[in-house]
Amino acid sequence: MIDPKFYSDFGDRKIPDLIDGFLEIGELRSIDDVLVKIADITAKIVECDRVSIFIYDKKKETLWTKIAHGVADKIEVPKDKGIVGWVFLNSRELIISDPYSDPRFNKEIDKATGYVTKNILAFPLKTYSGRTVGVLECINKLDGNFVEDDVKFVKILSVYAANSIENALLYDEIKRTQDEIVFRLSLAAEFRDETTYNHLIRMANYSYVIAKEMGFDEVWCEKLRLAAPMHDIGKLGIKDQILLKPAKLTDEEFEEMKKHTVFGYEILKDSDIEVLRMASNIAIAHHEKYDGSGYPYGLKGEQIPIEARIVAVADVFDALTSERPYKKAFPVEQAVKMIEDESGKHFDPNVVQAFKNVIHKILAIKKQYE
Ligand code: C2E
Ligand code: SIN
Ligand code: SIN
Ligand code: FE
Repeated sequence: MIDPKFYSDFGDRKIPDLIDGFLEIGELRSIDDVLVKIADITAKIVECDRVSIFIYDKKKETLWTKIAHGVADKIEVPKDKGIVGWVFLNSRELIISDPYSDPRFNKEIDKATGYVTKNILAFPLKTYSGRTVGVLECINKLDGNFVEDDVKFVKILSVYAANSIENALLYDEIKRTQDEIVFRLSLAAEFRDETTYNHLIRMANYSYVIAKEMGFDEVWCEKLRLAAPMHDIGKLGIKDQILLKPAKLTDEEFEEMKKHTVFGYEILKDSDIEVLRMASNIAIAHHEKYDGSGYPYGLKGEQIPIEARIVAVADVFDALTSERPYKKAFPVEQAVKMIEDESGKHFDPNVVQAFKNVIHKILAIKKQYE
């Protein structure tokens, strides 16, 4: 039940529109859809021509239009410029009835878009926790000027927009944090070895383009790109005298070296996080060979997880074309030939075929991260 006082506060106009709008928003999943809907409902309820939603970019210290009715290109302004900047910095709403006589008004935007701004209602997007994440701006009331009553409606919608934006920003930050931690941990293993950051970037991206070519969906390919760099994390458990030996390993030393697969699996196994489970499969099986002659278990063909079969090609191609303390780099043509020659022996023929199909992309990645 809606409190009758709510109606009287708002002079009972527009309430059905507002309720319908919230019901529709509840159905939406993506932040972009939510913000478009909020802009549309706001325009309808306050009866104005355009609504823009500006989001604050912390790094660049600018406000940019995530949503802007009637404007195709993104508008980006310094956080201290214009009405929008003032509202953001002061975290207070503003009703402007004659913008061209207001010194705060930024005429550049009209100049760039060819639009004539007659009046503005701009409202800070403040979250429940009190953070201002942007500005909601209504332009050109269809009839007369914006009034205090409009502010009440915009306020309700703005809190919703602010919290949607904050959630999306938090999600994005958590995702980027995760990706970076994973990458830096993988790097820890490689630091002891001569291999580098660039080796990890290259082999991760080779794995990604091969998987795409094989038809795996974008989400899976992205997970593979994130999991692949962890393949050698078990090298953390290999003694320096073996790992860093500037010469060929003895049979006994190579037996020790092979344990990096099992060590990596032990570090990564049993996680609830899918990327880590994928990484554990890759760590244990990236030196298995298609014909069953690999290690540690001598798995064969489809017994080897597909993510490991893909990473095997990506990793060996990069190892072959790179210098190691114990070997020189092979020229690219010879390395490609060596991969082809091992099709059906060391490598899955389907993966080798995909690798050949996207060799131009692979060489472009190689060049980019030389
Ligand atoms: P890595 O140097 O990153 O090499 C990865 C894989 O690429 C190797 O797995 C192998 O399949 C392939 N590969 C690398 N270089 C060559 C090459 O010159 N010819 C051919 N045909 N394939 C090559 P593998 O052999 O299981 O070795 C695993 C890891 O063991 C190597 O990683 C490296 O860290 C270490 N390792 C292997 N052999 C030696 C060695 O003789 N001396 C030293 N110090 N380390 C070695
Ligand atoms: C301003 O922020 O001063 C101008 C806003 C606009 O025209 O969109
Ligand atoms: C290694 O595993 O020790 C080197 C790279 C690879 O083939 O995974
Ligand atoms: Fe390895």
